[in-house]
Amino acid sequence: MTILQSNPGANVLKGKKIIIGICGGIAAYKIPQLVRLLKKRGAIVRVALTEGGAHFVSELALATVSEERVYRKIFPPMESEGVDFTRHISLGEWADALVIAPATANTLARLSAGLCDDMLAAIFLTLRPGKPVLIFPAMDGQMFLSHSVQRNIATLATQGCSIINPESGELASGLCGVGRMPEPEAILRALEEALHETGECSPLYGKKVVITAGPTREKIDDVRFISNYSSGKMGFAIARAAAKRGAIVTLLAGPVHLPTPPGVERLDVESAAEMNAAAEGFFNSCDLFIGAAAVSDYRPATPYEGKMKKDKEEIELALVKNPDILARFGLQKSACQLAVGFALETRTGLESARKKLTEKNLDLIAFNFFDRKTSGFDVDTNILTLIGSNGEITELPQLTKDAAAGKLLDAIEQLCLKDRH
Ligand SMILES: Cc1cc2nc3c(=O)[nH]c(=O)nc-3n(C[C@H](O)[C@H](O)[C@H](O)COP(=O)(O)O)c2cc1C
Repeated sequence: MTILQSNPGANVLKGKKIIIGICGGIAAYKIPQLVRLLKKRGAIVRVALTEGGAHFVSELALATVSEERVYRKIFPPMESEGVDFTRHISLGEWADALVIAPATANTLARLSAGLCDDMLAAIFLTLRPGKPVLIFPAMDGQMFLSHSVQRNIATLATQGCSIINPESGELASGLCGVGRMPEPEAILRALEEALHETGECSPLYGKKVVITAGPTREKIDDVRFISNYSSGKMGFAIARAAAKRGAIVTLLAGPVHLPTPPGVERLDVESAAEMNAAAEGFFNSCDLFIGAAAVSDYRPATPYEGKMKKDKEEIELALVKNPDILARFGLQKSACQLAVGFALETRTGLESARKKLTEKNLDLIAFNFFDRKTSGFDVDTNILTLIGSNGEITELPQLTKDAAAGKLLDAIEQLCLKDRH
């Protein structure tokens, strides 16, 4: 694997082109301070101000601190000289990241609906894939919790935007509650983190990553199958996180009801044999293979054609073993490829996970147990224990599957970096 170095101590903001979208909320008054902090860190900052935003913070102040003109309307004034008529699409190409703070209920609705009625909306629509979008909703607490705002936030989150929930505290209305925008220092830290996870900063940037996810279905007859409770959430979270870090991700998905993460190529399969055939096509070309699917170990030897009748008291179903996709990849991979697997065991199955790691020639295995409440199939959280091929063990706490995916990729990045030395 050709590895790009990452240096966690480096100033990721230096030279980065950041657009800050400011909407019409009272917290807009804090943004000139954020611009100053970013400039001090060496970022190039441009501001897109909404009509609402212009009521709360002055264009002159923003232009002064950013040392750039402020962008507002899509239609340029015809009388001025040197007008750039396509600025509404070129800024999205220019930017390394977009921060929308404060994000009003109104602009959340505009963006989630795909409107393009001001510069901020145009930049949002034209930003290049993989570039982080951080949205900081700030508004009255009741407004924030309203069905419409929550629906729009959920839509934007499924498009890959990072939504940073407002804090609780004193609001402009004088009430106390949720709705307050984080302070500029906290926004800066969130942006640093997002940039650190993306693009050139990650050793996974530009790497070809194949991830299997979800269950498989093994036909008994034309209407029945053997399967398991896997929801695909863990594998999809890993695919989402890897794409955010700039990897070229192919997701081989069993039958699940999940939206495709942004920037991910998805191939839907049904049976273990289909997943195996699809995976084989990437064995030689991928840099990293992550087996997160719960592939059925066995399939009916001879699926019945049509629908089996229930005319017998007892039937016997002969099962044959399915190919172990991850083991097949692990045992034939080259020295510059990485194989990562999951071991779903009972709570005490650490030894069995270790055995799988060795037998399948994996570089890392994530051991998790199933209790159907905090960990394993279908639930939204997971408790992973990562075991490296050198025997090193990292126990993670209960995390959302998105956060667990991030930790898993952090560990894989460390493997990539070690490879180099
Ligand atoms: C004093 C005042 C404060 C406001 N504060 C907020 C706010 O914090 N969050 C919000 O979503 N809307 C707030 N609004 C409403 C927005 O300004 C309004 O919806 C506007 O159309 C938003 O425009 P924009 O989304 O283009 O910026 C406020 C309005 C007023 C008059």
